[in-house]
Amino acid sequence: MASITIKDMCVSYNKGKTYVLDKLNLDIKDGEFCVFLGPSGCGKSTAMYSIAGLLEPFSGQIYFGDKLMTETEGGKKKTFVPPQERNIAMVFQEYALYPNMTVRENMGFSLKTKKVPKDEIDRLVNEQAAKLELTDLLDRRIAQLSGGQRQRVALGRALVRSPQVFLLDEPLGNLDAKLRDQVRYELKKIQKELNVTTIYVTHDQTEAMTMADHIVLLSGGHIMQEGTPNDLYDHPANEFVAGFLGTPQINIFPCSVKEENGAYILDAGTFRLKAPDHVKASLAPYTGKKVDLGIRPSDFEIAQEGVNSIPAKLDSIEPLGDAYLLYVRIGEKVVVFKYAGEKAPTETEMLLKPNMEKLHLFDPETQKRINA
Ligand SMILES: Nc1ncnc2c1ncn2[C@@H]1O[C@H](COP(=O)(O)OP(=O)(O)O)[C@@H](O)[C@H]1O
Ligand SMILES: [Mg+2]
Repeated sequence: MASITIKDMCVSYNKGKTYVLDKLNLDIKDGEFCVFLGPSGCGKSTAMYSIAGLLEPFSGQIYFGDKLMTETEGGKKKTFVPPQERNIAMVFQEYALYPNMTVRENMGFSLKTKKVPKDEIDRLVNEQAAKLELTDLLDRRIAQLSGGQRQRVALGRALVRSPQVFLLDEPLGNLDAKLRDQVRYELKKIQKELNVTTIYVTHDQTEAMTMADHIVLLSGGHIMQEGTPNDLYDHPANEFVAGFLGTPQINIFPCSVKEENGAYILDAGTFRLKAPDHVKASLAPYTGKKVDLGIRPSDFEIAQEGVNSIPAKLDSIEPLGDAYLLYVRIGEKVVVFKYAGEKAPTETEMLLKPNMEKLHLFDPETQKRINA
């Protein structure tokens, strides 16, 4: 088991003309479940392949624990431990199992090529199969298994080798929604049991939120923010992070900031909100300027009357089973509101009250968060 440290890593596919990852710095703790999250093409797989030793970065260092695995400078290799000596296990979306071999043969394959004695292979395979509830399937051929079962075999095959680092690249992409939820839960449980440092690559924010100890949210080869799922959800560092995490997406309202009788007013044109005391200090420098106000769909409620409420017109309703998504118009803007009431509202005209404790304020120019 090992921690992973990445220092000033740049990765280029064109000999340093442009960087796909630009000065990446990262610390992943021993035993942590770390998720690389971000839109397609942001560099998640590239970062993972670099850690695995399948790619040589242009510059920077990668350590497992205090052992240097990769060091390159200006495209030149200084230290490079080959992938097979890094004691890693990888699972990809295409798990490339051997369809005509049994589960047992697939799981033991890498140990056999390493000339591990047969008794020992049996012991390791049986042990891992029990953890993954594959014991009854050990003598079946892969071709006879469902997608979810194959997925578990792929995990088992990787885990029998007791890797010090476990790398998974979008491994649940092939599964249907129900199975994905189940495998997600099992994967997280197994990871905690084995306590193996894990990097999991996905573009799916739900997978990241539900499984990660540590999310690294990437965009365009840069880290936008890292931290626990709650850090990122409750305190997004910028509008990109605010928009990437949470479904439906956060609502953003461009507002002017006005000072009136010692209070700060957020004026969106279609409504005015008196800013709560805890954001006063952050808003002061924006007096007479613009800010972007973010309110998550779950941070509204229906008000009867009163100050700090927003007049809205109901547009359409999507029942979720345990709540309703209300699409409402505030002026011309369509806003999503997650309403947890028993029955959908029947009135078209309504007043929405945002939870003033959960406002997110951003600088429209830098896109950075301005409130604590
Ligand atoms: N072998 C390659 N040659 C050139 N460009 C590549 C190669 N692999 C990936 N890229 C580019 O690097 C960027 C990051 O890719 P990747 O790490 O695969 O993204 P992700 O896994 O986040 O979807 C993308 O712009 C992609 O087109
Ligand atoms: Mg990828």
